Amino acid sequence: MKTFYVETYGCQMNVVDSEIVASILIRNGLIQTYNPQDADIILLNTCSIRENAEMRIKSRIKQLGSFKKTNPNLRLGIIGCMAENLKEKLFVELPQLDLLAGPDVYRLLPEILKQINDENKIINTTLSKEETYADVLPFRYDSNGISAYVSIMRGCDNFCSYCVVPYTRGRERSRDASSIINEVLSLSENGFKEITLLGQNVNSYHYRDIDFPALISLLAKNFPNLLFRFTTSHPKDLSIELIEAMASFPNIAKSIHLPVQSGSNEVLKRMNRKYTRDDYLEKVYLLRRLIPDITISTDIICGFCGETEEDHLQTIDLMKEVNYFFAFMFKYNERPNTLAAKKYADDVTDDIKSRRLKEIIDLQQKISYMLNKQDIGKIFKVLVEGISKKNEKEIFGRNSQNKVIVFAGDLTQKGQFVDVEVTNCTSATLIGRQNFDK
Ligand code: SAH
Ligand code: SF4
Ligand code: F3S
Repeated sequence: MKTFYVETYGCQMNVVDSEIVASILIRNGLIQTYNPQDADIILLNTCSIRENAEMRIKSRIKQLGSFKKTNPNLRLGIIGCMAENLKEKLFVELPQLDLLAGPDVYRLLPEILKQINDENKIINTTLSKEETYADVLPFRYDSNGISAYVSIMRGCDNFCSYCVVPYTRGRERSRDASSIINEVLSLSENGFKEITLLGQNVNSYHYRDIDFPALISLLAKNFPNLLFRFTTSHPKDLSIELIEAMASFPNIAKSIHLPVQSGSNEVLKRMNRKYTRDDYLEKVYLLRRLIPDITISTDIICGFCGETEEDHLQTIDLMKEVNYFFAFMFKYNERPNTLAAKKYADDVTDDIKSRRLKEIIDLQQKISYMLNKQDIGKIFKVLVEGISKKNEKEIFGRNSQNKVIVFAGDLTQKGQFVDVEVTNCTSATLIGRQNFDK
């Protein structure tokens, strides 16, 4: 029997996709190994979002290719976004590769793997308008047994001008709601406590007459013992109904990832984000009004085509206005064939991008620290996930606001919701204690 090994890069969608691939291969009689040196088949599930993601994966392939010297039957494959994005070019650049498979053909992998031989490399990057792998129960091989991702849709139709995802993942499609409910039921029966619903734009989920607020309300109502999170929300589609659902169900987390990308209307327009700075801020105010204890996180790109110093200051100003508790921050990286690559010059120099990135990272760190300090003295319910990486006498978990809290305790509490009082903090972590005067 053949063994396979999967390594995952990129976003949470890819984490689930690797679990789907593992499930499909195991169902077809293959055996999963967690050591690439023991594998007959090595698959890298890949990301194309920025060039450095692709560079890392290419050098990893070169490294893994050397295993072919000791194991001539080893098959090496790139699956996922990078296979879809670069296609045959990868066979030319990386002759070690035997297989390229896009994100919508994973059901065919067992068949494809049989057809590969020394003379026959295989590429299949067909995208589908329907595939959601609704009936494939992901094999959660790397899970902590407490938190699980559940994919509720695939693809993206937004075509933000900088982004490759609509090309690598194809058209947006929503998964059958009953298959989502069944998967959550099975997770609940298996002891999971926290479910994160995943899609590139969960706010546009639509299956028959069920939209995203209806789906998450249904889940929250039927599974009162599970905590629900979701990502990612596109600001243009964030509805009042979703905010009301978040406000009314205690088991929908009081935290939202709401990528803004830029604080400047001119830049947002060129990015094709379809909202203005004011539209965005209005949603933030509504979130804060209806859910006073909510935390908001974001993604920011600096140095996008034509970004002036004034545009950059608008982003800085918006960060101060919103007070994000956390942000992913990137320098703009031009991706071939995207709308921005075709239409606009990548005209902000790398030095300026680096300086602007440093300014937003420094500011974000200050804001995170300031917000964390405001939590000192507060008591939160925390879902315990495991032992702290830094100190084995401490455990960690996250509160509803998605902040990590570290505190004294032991693994017997893993998977429980416990009350923790915050006593101290850094910019990244809250520090707390369990035994306080209630
Ligand atoms: N669907 C999600 C984003 C997925 S990509 C959403 O719309 O929020 C994650 C983040 O990568 C994006 O939010 C963006 O900030 C960043 N990103 C995407 N393309 C990029 C590029 N070409 N250069 C730099 N950052 C990029
Ligand atoms: Fe990319 Fe925009 Fe789609 Fe997010 S919403 S995946 S940034 S095109
Ligand atoms: Fe990367 Fe594909 Fe996700 S490009 S960010 S792995 S959807």
